[in-house]
Amino acid sequence: MRLHVADHPLITHKLTVLRDKRTPSPVFRQLTEELVTLLAYEATRNVRVASVEIDTPVTHTTGVKIDDPRPLVVPILRAGLGMLEGMVTLLPSAEVGFLGMARNEETLQPMTYAERLPEDLSDRQCFVLDPMLATGGSLGAAIEFLFTRGAQDVTAICLLGTPEGISVIEKQSAGRDVTLVLGALDEGLNDKAYIVPGLGDAGDRLYGTV
Ligand code: PRP
Ligand code: URA
Repeated sequence: MRLHVADHPLITHKLTVLRDKRTPSPVFRQLTEELVTLLAYEATRNVRVASVEIDTPVTHTTGVKIDDPRPLVVPILRAGLGMLEGMVTLLPSAEVGFLGMARNEETLQPMTYAERLPEDLSDRQCFVLDPMLATGGSLGAAIEFLFTRGAQDVTAICLLGTPEGISVIEKQSAGRDVTLVLGALDEGLNDKAYIVPGLGDAGDRLYGTV
């Protein structure tokens, strides 16, 4: 597994505002989109491209374009939905699939309640979006799901992660092409498996308590 933890003052600034419990939902949503766009720059470093010939107004030249099959972006509902717009802004040709997952707050096990993905993901590059990598259960299950369908490689973008979550993803990714891009690496988990210092419940802060 490749791990990239962002190290940029603009990202740290936006994360600090996001973490602040006084930040209201509309600002939280806006910052989430902006952060994803910044992290997507690193996350798409190995996106597959193909050479193309073009004519500029001045001359004939060679460039690159994102290759087929199109990358697949997969937000994990509900909180990952808040990251979708920021990602497709940078990768407009991507296809979008959905995975609905909720962590059982007692057992901490993820439960999949919705799935809308292509049956066959052979040769596909997949980008999973979830703001929080806490115990790693949800992201781990999502990544497993994509490889079971034949994905070629999976890159996950999370705003915050923990050492516990990273180690779960690392073990599970053995022998597979997995990249994890984090906005920040936090200290760890509290006794309710919330990220510390974290930002609270990302889904609630984006959309309110449901
Ligand atoms: C949150 C978050 C992750 C998961 C992380 O979702 O968005 O999917 O928890 O925790 P884990 O690493 O311990 O699995 P949640 O289950 O709260 O659902 P929501 O997005 O609907 O709020
Ligand atoms: N899910 C969240 O939304 N926040 C956490 O801190 C952990 C899991």
